[in-house]
Amino acid sequence: MSIEKYIDLCGGNENITRVLVPGDQLIFAVKNSQLIATSESIDTVQDVLGETQVVFTRPESVTNDMLLCVGKRIASQQLQQIESFSDPVECEYRPQWHISPPQGLLNDPNGFVFHDGQYHMFYQWYPYACVHKDKHWAHLTSKDLINWEWQPIPLTPSDWFDSHGVFSGHALSMGEELMLFYTGNTRIGPERDRHTTQCLATSKDGINFEKHGPVVGELPPGTTEHVRDPKILRHNDKWLMLLGAQTTELKGRFVVYTSDDLKSWEFDSLYGDELGDFGYMWECPDMFELNGQMFSVLGPQGIESFSQHNTIPHHNGIAKSQWTEGFGFSVSEFEHLDYGFDFYAPQTMLTPDGRRVMCGWMGLPDEIDQPSTDNGWVHQLTTMREMRFENGKLIQWPIAEHDSLVSETQQIMLTQDAFDAQGKSFDLELELEWGQTLNLFESSEHKVTLKADYETKRLILDRSQTLNRAQDTVREVILDSDKVSLRILADTSSIEVFINGGEAVMTGRVFTAVDASGISVDTGSVKATVKRLKASEAPFMQV
Ligand code: FRU
Repeated sequence: MSIEKYIDLCGGNENITRVLVPGDQLIFAVKNSQLIATSESIDTVQDVLGETQVVFTRPESVTNDMLLCVGKRIASQQLQQIESFSDPVECEYRPQWHISPPQGLLNDPNGFVFHDGQYHMFYQWYPYACVHKDKHWAHLTSKDLINWEWQPIPLTPSDWFDSHGVFSGHALSMGEELMLFYTGNTRIGPERDRHTTQCLATSKDGINFEKHGPVVGELPPGTTEHVRDPKILRHNDKWLMLLGAQTTELKGRFVVYTSDDLKSWEFDSLYGDELGDFGYMWECPDMFELNGQMFSVLGPQGIESFSQHNTIPHHNGIAKSQWTEGFGFSVSEFEHLDYGFDFYAPQTMLTPDGRRVMCGWMGLPDEIDQPSTDNGWVHQLTTMREMRFENGKLIQWPIAEHDSLVSETQQIMLTQDAFDAQGKSFDLELELEWGQTLNLFESSEHKVTLKADYETKRLILDRSQTLNRAQDTVREVILDSDKVSLRILADTSSIEVFINGGEAVMTGRVFTAVDASGISVDTGSVKATVKRLKASEAPFMQV
């Protein structure tokens, strides 16, 4: 029987919302169960968590190419449905120049790459509501990493290998071809058993993508189904696929596959034992060199927190990495990438002039209830940060291109009487003495404070007097400097605080009243430079 016959029995193309092929089964999820034909070929019709699924035994005549064709049909229906969800909803909390989703939920940045004369940024997106569900990839392009253009949706959860989420991954620019490697996530049966594969999609024009299905179809030995977020890199004369994983002993580790042609991949090994018991899962790996030193990035879940105030299981950091011939790589000296509230799953990219630029998700997996959710969108990406490794220290700093957003620069003296920044989108530079506290986004009701605590030599970020709904209100970082120099990028409902020239960063979403544009210090006076920032050119970002 041809695949068309199975589809007819399920009520035709229009009635099919998913295709799944676990083991020797062929399953179609349908919209309208009334349209299912009566036939002996149907093994069973089942209800899986409210979804009607028609189950057949998969015959050998149904090939992977046929299944890809079915995926294309499902994708075209999904794309029609998404169209109206790509229109930005208005919201007073909408950032002016950070990337935010037009509607729905954004999470990890994906496929961050320079390809064919422009930058590409993709992100994890669920368009229909502010919840974590069947993820799509959204796509933006830019000439300068500041002004972005919305592109057609490149990947939807349309196929048997990614029906419950086109999960995170990276991009590779190979001449004219843009290759996307990502994790396909499917959930089978009422128990929602997770099936994970590593998949490939390619594009000749950088806009329209063709899926090729799994290039790694099996799990690596010794892991659970939590294996994801491929990063492809060149090492010696081989391609490496670096993945985040959970071992069967429930420990976070890296997994490496190798390849000569980017199509067929061979399991190499699990790595990261040197870090010992370091969380139950590592997500979103990255690996790159800075000033002669290799680093790997990981998102370890469930490690000890850097602060008693932080009880969130999701962390993000960077570790030095060494490659040894015949052994593989080892990691040491883990440090957190951000000491604020909202920073996760970053990706980096090399600019044509050799800068390593990082962008992260300004959000956290479990925090979806924020004031913007009431208007139908949640989360955003961080500022683009240049990463450097200088005098043994890792530095993060806003990319130079950021200055193109400056509309006006003012030298000011901050005192106890709040200075009105006339808006909440600015770049502020100043130096605090130990013992002083800076108040930002200040109004009669709200403020966020940065206290340079004299006693403990900690910089303490407190957002308890804001509209934030997360019960997670204080973060701190220990510093050993004589003074505390700050560069703060504020954008409507977020701040990113670059401390002591970028040696530490604190990122947080901070929701306050529209008129909360005051800036003050609690004692003494502090010279400051404030640069007002205009909105970037991307219609979907503006209020
Ligand atoms: C990190 C993460 C990734 C996964 C993606 C799914 O936030 O959990 O590991 O690929 O989000 O949206």
